[in-house]
Amino acid sequence: MQHANKTCVLFVCLGNICRSPTAQAVFARRATDAGLLELTVESAGTGAWHAGEPPDARAIEAGRARGYDFTGQSARQVETLDFARFDYILAMDADNLSYLKSIAPVSYRGHLSLFLDFCDNSRAQVPDPYYGGAHGFETVIDLIERASDGLIHAIKTPHLT
Ligand code: 4NP
Repeated sequence: MQHANKTCVLFVCLGNICRSPTAQAVFARRATDAGLLELTVESAGTGAWHAGEPPDARAIEAGRARGYDFTGQSARQVETLDFARFDYILAMDADNLSYLKSIAPVSYRGHLSLFLDFCDNSRAQVPDPYYGGAHGFETVIDLIERASDGLIHAIKTPHLT
């Protein structure tokens, strides 16, 4: 939104250390591979508890095993200015989305929705893996890979959104 020919995407979860950093890493890599080069991709949390921290070690381990890079990521809280910067603001679950809707300026003309709206999944939300085991992080990446490919398709085919 800041740059006329650049698409800006923000992924949002609760802590910004598990799901949305994974979405940032997965989407950035798959978009680049798909030839979408004019992108800004960031992530944020609705909460600030982990601000300044790197992604959760379990998320990094699961992501790296599939070739995704988390270098340079640092947690931050979502802020009102994000609605001026990002064309797509994509929530991992319904709680994240309702928080975002509660702080969104009425003038926001970007796309605010659940991330999994971009794929056909049996699930509508990316489940919070924080208090579970390693399997939860694999499920998170499975869902995020599919939604990333759906979002890439939507950005390449603008009439879809
Ligand atoms: P995330 O996971 O929202 O996917 O980053 C969580 C991280 C931390 C907490 C909850 C969920 N927490 O309660 O600290």
